[in-house]
Amino acid sequence: MTVSKRKKEHVNIALNQEVRFKTKTTGFEKFDFIHCALPELNFDEVSTAVEFLGKPLSFPMMISAMTGGYDGALEINRILAEVAQEKQIALGIGSQRQIMNDSSQAKTYKIVRQSAPDIVIIGNIGAAEITGEPDPDIFRKMVDLIQADALAVHLNPLQEILQPEGNGHFYGVLRGIEALVKALEVPVIAKEIGCGISREVAWRLKNAGVKIIDIAGAGGTSWAGIEYHRGAHPQLSQTFWDWGIPTADALIDVSRIAKLTLIASGGIENGLTMAKAIALGADLCGSARPLLSMIESRGAGGLSEMLGHWKEELRMALFLTGCGNVSELHHKNVLLKTGPSQ
Ligand SMILES: Cc1cc2nc3c(=O)[nH]c(=O)nc-3n(C[C@H](O)[C@H](O)[C@H](O)COP(=O)(O)O)c2cc1C
Repeated sequence: MTVSKRKKEHVNIALNQEVRFKTKTTGFEKFDFIHCALPELNFDEVSTAVEFLGKPLSFPMMISAMTGGYDGALEINRILAEVAQEKQIALGIGSQRQIMNDSSQAKTYKIVRQSAPDIVIIGNIGAAEITGEPDPDIFRKMVDLIQADALAVHLNPLQEILQPEGNGHFYGVLRGIEALVKALEVPVIAKEIGCGISREVAWRLKNAGVKIIDIAGAGGTSWAGIEYHRGAHPQLSQTFWDWGIPTADALIDVSRIAKLTLIASGGIENGLTMAKAIALGADLCGSARPLLSMIESRGAGGLSEMLGHWKEELRMALFLTGCGNVSELHHKNVLLKTGPSQ
C-alpha cells in the first residue's frame, strides 16, 4: 500500500470509527483543583500567554501531528494552519516520510507555512526512518520545506508492529535521535502517538540530547484501535487496544526529570484538562483527533470556536486557583488527588 493511501485511511478511520481507548482513561479525572475563593486577582488580567521555541503563544496549546502526503490532506492542513495562525498556537504536521522518495505531495505540507507565517510549526518523521545513519540533509529538507521551528520524531513501536506495512526495526533509534540532535539546527522533539513515554525512556532521550518530549499517553486515541479497523491483525489489535501509560501518569513520572520541556497530549479534550496537565508539570498541551473531528463536523469556524473555549476554560482554572498566569499554575500546589491510581 502506498504511504498516501495509508495516510488517507488513518484520517478516515479516525473520523468514522470508534478508536478511543476502551477502558483505560488519561488519569486526569483522578485529580481535582483546590478551589480558591479568594483569588485576589482581576479575571480580565489573568493571562494564558506563554512562549514556546522563542515565539509567543496565546495559550499553551499545540495541534498535534496528524496529516499530509495525500490530496485530501491539503485542505485539512490549510484549515489547521489558518486556525492555528488565528489563535496563535503551535502546529505539528503529520509524518513527512512520504516526501523522502516522492516530492509530488510536498504541497500538502508547504501549505501550513503559507497559511501560518508566524506560528511555531513542527515537522515530523517516524523512528523507523532515522535508524541506519541516514543522510541528515533529508531531514534538513523536511525542516526547510515548512520553515519548521523543530522536528518531531514519533516513537510508535506498537503501531509499527500492528500495521500491515509496518517496520519493527527499532534497534538503533536512540542513536539515530542522537545523530539528528547534533545534525539539525532546530530542536528535536521526541513524541509517542498514544502509548506514553516512561521516565526511563525520557532519561535515555534526555541523555541523547533531546530537550522537548511530547508524552502522547494513553486515554485518547488508540492506534491499536485504528489498526484494528485497518484489519491486518484484528485479533492482536483488539488485545492491545488499551496498551500504554495513561497520559497523567506518564506526565507525573517524566516531570520528575529536570530541565525538560514537556508537552502533555493523548486524550486532552478541554481547557480544564489542560490546566490539570500544566499543574502536573506540562509546559504545553497537544490534541489531535478531537480537533480533526471538529473540522469534519463544523469546519474551521467550529475549530476556532472550540479552541477559544479551551483557552477560556484554562483562564477560568487559573483565576479559580488564584494564579495570574500559566507559570504560577505550573509551580503552585493546587491539585488534589481524588481517587486511587490505576
Ligand atoms: C489521523 C491521525 C493521524 C496521525 N498521524 C500522526 C503522524 O503522522 N505523526 C505523529 O507523530 N503522530 C500522528 N498522530 C498521533 C497524534 O499526533 C497524537 O499523538 C495521538 O493521536 C494522541 O492524541 P489524541 O488523543 O489527542 O488524538 C496522528 C493522529 C491522528 C488522529
